[in-house]
Amino acid sequence: MTVTWVEDANTLAIRAAVYLADLVSAKPEAAIALPTGATPLGLYRQLVLARQAGGFDPHRAKFFNLDEFVGKSVADPQSYGGFLWRHLFEPLGIRADQVRLLHGAAADAQAECDDFEKTIAAAGGLDLAILGLGRNGHVAFNEPGSDWTAGTRCVALTEMTRTAQSTLYRDPAEVPLAGLTMGLPTIRQARAILLLVSGTGKSDAMRAVLRGRPDPLWPVTAILDHPNLTIIADRAVCPEDSVC
Ligand code: GLP
Repeated sequence: MTVTWVEDANTLAIRAAVYLADLVSAKPEAAIALPTGATPLGLYRQLVLARQAGGFDPHRAKFFNLDEFVGKSVADPQSYGGFLWRHLFEPLGIRADQVRLLHGAAADAQAECDDFEKTIAAAGGLDLAILGLGRNGHVAFNEPGSDWTAGTRCVALTEMTRTAQSTLYRDPAEVPLAGLTMGLPTIRQARAILLLVSGTGKSDAMRAVLRGRPDPLWPVTAILDHPNLTIIADRAVCPEDSVC
């Protein structure tokens, strides 16, 4: 794994955008899984700028999301799918046929998750999974204590995650109690993983990453033995710790 520390969230966004644009340039039909949350917003802005400047052409790429709130359809502005369309797909001019999102409002959640996995397999697997990092070490919605061998599925969300992800909601109490999440095996099978670490309250999770060994308390550590793992972190993550 390679860890790159950058000064701030803006530099992180630029580095991540260069990484993604290079990958798509080398493989225009790349299959890419995308995170939601605050961390990737800068990356998505940079990709839109790169597209406008002619330095990024995603018209053959395929996109998947990592997770979604149960009960939320893509048409709902509080859904992660809606977030991705607003901040990335629409500004980039991505077509609906390039995108397969987890549908949180599906009547049969497990059938939806199984079909999602089949679509990824039919695309030849993921070329890249871009991940954010939760304060409790979760990736996608794989919370502490989750089964590292489980595929895409419905999971209960912790209070910490519901509170942290309440920005799309008027009241944290409105945040759904459950989510659909890509499983850790699917993420681990991606040919490359880009982990972006930005934001406050993540120093404990980042220290678990830097210890470099699997720890069931910290789901992010399930990816540490991946042969092509790139981590970009901004220094605000560990302001009090010179190790970071
Ligand atoms: C959320 C999402 C993740 C996201 C992570 C970090 O709960 N399920 O996909 O990457 O937590 O979020 P943020 O970037 O807002 O800190």
